[in-house]
Amino acid sequence: MRRKIVAGNWKMNKTPAEATVLVAALREALDGLSSVDVAICPPFTALPAAAEALRGSAIGLGAQNVHWEAAGAFTGEIAAPMLVELGVRYAIVGHSERRQFFGETDATVNRRARAALGAGLIPIVCVGETIQEREADQTRAVLERQVRAGLEGLSGDDWDRLVIAYEPVWAIGTGRTASDAQAQDAHAFIRGLLRSLAGPDAAGRIRIQYGGSMKPGNAAGLLAQPDIDGGLIGGASLAADDFAAIVRGGA
Ligand code: 13P
Repeated sequence: MRRKIVAGNWKMNKTPAEATVLVAALREALDGLSSVDVAICPPFTALPAAAEALRGSAIGLGAQNVHWEAAGAFTGEIAAPMLVELGVRYAIVGHSERRQFFGETDATVNRRARAALGAGLIPIVCVGETIQEREADQTRAVLERQVRAGLEGLSGDDWDRLVIAYEPVWAIGTGRTASDAQAQDAHAFIRGLLRSLAGPDAAGRIRIQYGGSMKPGNAAGLLAQPDIDGGLIGGASLAADDFAAIVRGGA
């Protein structure tokens, strides 16, 4: 049985002071819940405040990106050791907003994922098709390319620490969620790819999150699908009660 993992991707929201307030509300809203892994991914600048506010809590801390080098002349980037020192456990890699607006490619996603693993972080590798790709019947081809290239070179223990997030781009921030069946179909396809890359045992243990307009009203249905092992939540993760309701939908 895979333990579900629900993570909040705060995107470019919350100052350090605001993060402290939201973390306190989350701790209260999630009190007593221990059957689901929970993480929050604030902006880099709010990570120290969030780490402080999370002290003693089981909620994990994640970053929204990570560079592939450990240090050096890479203006504007953040390296894995910098995150580790703050107590960060997860790093989102290859979010569609980074692919769409910041030139992220499958090759850079792969470098970031490998660097995260090498530093002891758990990468949350995002994949997903655009609406044009879905309508052109390219969903599976796109997912196969993103998964194979994004995870190239992973081996051994890497597979046991990896998390994948299937986020159909057309469902992100649009209020338009994939149906339970559409999401399950994509997740099952991704798990099939993982079987060929990592072997059946490891593939059976890798958690695949769904992301894209997940809300309290649709979370339980999505999280009940056999290959949906959690959620990566954008907008609804900024409201403690909504995020907690989603987490409870997976409990
Ligand atoms: P929304 O939940 O706002 O659709 O965002 C999903 C997402 O991109 C999480 O990474």
